Amino acid sequence: MAIGIGLLGLGTVGTGTAEILLSPQGRHPLLGEVVLKRAGVRSLDKPRNIDLPAGCLTTDLEAIVKDPEIQVVVELLGGLEPARTLILAAIANGKHVVTANKAVIAKYGEEIYTAANKAGVYVLLEAAVGGGIPIIKPLKQSLGVNRITRVIGIINGTTNYILTQMAQHGADFGEVLAEAQKLGYAEADPSADVDGGDAADKIAILASLAFGGRIRREDVYCEGIRSISAADISFAKKLGFVIKLLAIAERPDLEEDALQLRVHPTLVPKDHPIASVNGVFNAILVEGEPLGQVMFYGPGAGAGATASAVVSDIVHVVGLLHSDQVIQKLNPLLGCTHEHYSKILPIDTLKTRFYARFLSRDLPGVIGDLGTCFGQHQVSLESVVQIGLQDDCAEIVVVTHDVHEANFREAMREIEGLEAIKEVPSILRVL
Ligand code: HSE
Repeated sequence: MAIGIGLLGLGTVGTGTAEILLSPQGRHPLLGEVVLKRAGVRSLDKPRNIDLPAGCLTTDLEAIVKDPEIQVVVELLGGLEPARTLILAAIANGKHVVTANKAVIAKYGEEIYTAANKAGVYVLLEAAVGGGIPIIKPLKQSLGVNRITRVIGIINGTTNYILTQMAQHGADFGEVLAEAQKLGYAEADPSADVDGGDAADKIAILASLAFGGRIRREDVYCEGIRSISAADISFAKKLGFVIKLLAIAERPDLEEDALQLRVHPTLVPKDHPIASVNGVFNAILVEGEPLGQVMFYGPGAGAGATASAVVSDIVHVVGLLHSDQVIQKLNPLLGCTHEHYSKILPIDTLKTRFYARFLSRDLPGVIGDLGTCFGQHQVSLESVVQIGLQDDCAEIVVVTHDVHEANFREAMREIEGLEAIKEVPSILRVL
């Protein structure tokens, strides 16, 4: 039985996917049943370093999603449109969909999965988070019987590369970003990566799977890494931390269906398992009861790695069609069964440790004043260090105990008004 595949997009991941589909030897035997029928591209003239079957390339993407010889549409265009419209058209035409597009799922997941459930087709997205790391199926299937308490991810390779380079070479953000763009690790417009949006899309998807409710993408609190300086990385190191852009989803109270969802640069203790995830690598740490902790680590992007995840979804659909030509009822271990939106707690309610760096006039009593302001707002301090002098200003670094974000912010407003405090160059959360 041959299953026809239509690819939408033949960029890096599309080409990697086609390469696996066209060389099934030594891989899963079900790949022998897959036929790459069409690959939809913007331009037929662009040089491509892959030999596709004759007549495979087309610029007519709408024809792919209607083609009766295609059972699985693989959307690798990225971005919101025309991806959303083509996915919905494929579903309406009874095609199963495999996608690597986290942005379209994070924003339009409800619309897409409602349509898919109605049409009785699957929309699989293993490649959307963590590139080649298997995390979607593990969360839905292997870990699904646990009460998940927390998911912590380094799920953006570009920012992890930049922060790793900054830490290793003592360089500033702008310098490393420019170098990363030259090497092709960062996009010409790096905002989706460096401002945290890509990680926010991904943690919205992971949270939905881990905690079993729909997530509104705009509910994910998000800070990027543009303001991280070489000075903070160096102070963090002296205090025993590394700085990572973490995406965190947690259920602070197991009795309540309320989640905290956030993406922000974070000081991670250097002996924490996620602290040694460097360069473009990704990792996702899942905590659940009774399992405890399990960490997934690997290449979070790249042609081969992401194509591995895409083709694993294709093979999954082929396996289902193999045993049951007409899918009567969607398997809840693969389909989307969420019907409600999870309640998301505002960032003010977060309880966490903070790191803050102050530039202050070197006057008697400044550290005492800081301590008093924090104390008046129930912010208990773990350490206060005066690191040195910069431009005649004392540089003071404070790490708090676990405190309510709202209390910390109130204390900071008061501190910023103190005469001796010239500047607060950075405030970061601590894991
Ligand atoms: N831009 C993403 C990253 C890769 O830097 O991790 C694709 O998800």
